[in-house]
Amino acid sequence: MNKKIILNISEKKYSVEIEVNSIKKKIDKLIKSNNNVIFLIDKKVFNFFEKVKNYKKQKYITISCSETIKSFQDYSKLSNKILSMGVDRKSVLIAIGGGTLGDLAGFIASTLLRGVDLVLIPTTLLSQVDSSIGGKNGINTKYGKNLIGTFYQPAKVLIDPSTLSSLPRREFLSGYAEIVKHAIINDQKFFNWLNVNSKKIFNLNYKIISEAIYKSVSIKKEYVVKDEKEKLKNKYSRAILNFGHTFGHALETFYNYDKTLTHGEAISIGMIIASKISHKLKYLSFEDFTKIKNHFIAHGLPITNKEMYNKKIFEIIYRDKKNIDNKVNLILLKNVGNAFLKPNINLDKIKKLIKN
Ligand SMILES: NC(=O)c1ccc[n+]([C@@H]2O[C@H](COP(=O)([O-])OP(=O)(O)OC[C@H]3O[C@@H](n4cnc5c(N)ncnc54)[C@H](O)[C@@H]3O)[C@@H](O)[C@H]2O)c1
Ligand SMILES: [Zn+2]
Repeated sequence: MNKKIILNISEKKYSVEIEVNSIKKKIDKLIKSNNNVIFLIDKKVFNFFEKVKNYKKQKYITISCSETIKSFQDYSKLSNKILSMGVDRKSVLIAIGGGTLGDLAGFIASTLLRGVDLVLIPTTLLSQVDSSIGGKNGINTKYGKNLIGTFYQPAKVLIDPSTLSSLPRREFLSGYAEIVKHAIINDQKFFNWLNVNSKKIFNLNYKIISEAIYKSVSIKKEYVVKDEKEKLKNKYSRAILNFGHTFGHALETFYNYDKTLTHGEAISIGMIIASKISHKLKYLSFEDFTKIKNHFIAHGLPITNKEMYNKKIFEIIYRDKKNIDNKVNLILLKNVGNAFLKPNINLDKIKKLIKN
C-alpha cells in the first residue's frame, strides 16, 4: 500500500510518502537526484544504509541516539563535522532515525548556512506518526524541553513501516501513545478503530500500521497547515497537539531526559492527568474518562508516576514556554475526539483537583 500526503506550509510544499519496504529504493533515488547529500544516521539503523550500493562512497555520520543528543554539545559537534565534510546551500541533509535525531537534524538544517534542505526518513513509530511532520525541531536545556529550536519544514518525509521490525517493544509503545493522542484529540472513530485494530498494530501487520500512520499524519496535518507557528487560540490551534505534553514534558525535564520514561510514557501520564482535569472541571464525562484510562491500561501505557505531584513538576510547568504571564494553558477534552485549548488556568487549583 502506497500512500502520499501533501503538506502546503509557508510557501513550502512537501510530500509525506508511506510505503512498506521502500527505504533502500528511496535512498538510492535521493543519491541519484542530488549532487551533494550528507546522511545523518542513527547507529541502530545503519543496516538499512548498508544495503545501499557503494554506501561507503557517501558522506555519512553515524550517531548513537537518545534524548541526550538534543543538546548544545551535539548540535555544535555535528554542525562542525558536517561543515568539515563540505556543504553548500544546494546540499541536502538526510536524517535516518527516530525523533531525537530528526529534532536535532531539523535544527541543524535550519541554521546551517541559514538553511539547507532536509529529508527525513523516520525509523521509529513515534517519528513516523508524529515528530517528522510539521517542521518543529529543537534541543533541550535544563530549563525545559525543546526550548531552543525553529520551525523549519523538511523537503520530504519518507516513511517505510517495515523499518519498525527491529524497534524494541517499549519504543513501539511510545509511538503508539502519539497515535492514541491524535485519536483522542480529534477523531472518535479513529479511537474506536484503534480499539479494534491495535492488536494487529502490535503484531506488525504493516497494512494496518500503514493505515494508522496515514491517519495520524493526516490529523497532525490538519493542525500544522492551519497554524504552523502555533499562534491560534481556537479549535484549530496547533497547541491542541500538545495534549498531555505539559505534564509529560515536565516529567521528562524532572528526570533530566534520562531513560526513566520514554517520551510516549511521559505524555501518557500527561494525557491521563489532562483527562482527569477535564473530567473534574466537568467538561469530560466519567464514561469517556474511563474509556481513555481503560485503553491505556489495556495497552500497557502508564497512567501514573510517583513524582507526578512533586512540587518541582509544577515549578517546571510554570517555566514552560507555552505558559504566558505565568498562567497555565492546558489542552482539555470535551469528549473522546474533541479537545480544546483552555487558557489561563490557575495551577494551584489544578494541583488540588488532581490530588483528590
Ligand atoms: N518535532 C516534533 O513535532 C515532535 C513530536 C513528537 C515528539 N518529538 C520528539 O521526539 C523524540 C522522541 O523520538 P523517538 O521516540 O523516535 O526517540 P529516539 O530517536 O530516541 O528513538 C528511540 C530509540 O530507538 C532507536 N531506534 C530508532 N529506530 C530504530 C529501529 N528501526 N529499530 C531499532 N531501534 C531503533 C534509537 O536509537 C533510540 O535508542 C523526543 O525528543 C520528542 O520530544 C518531536
Ligand atoms: Zn509528543
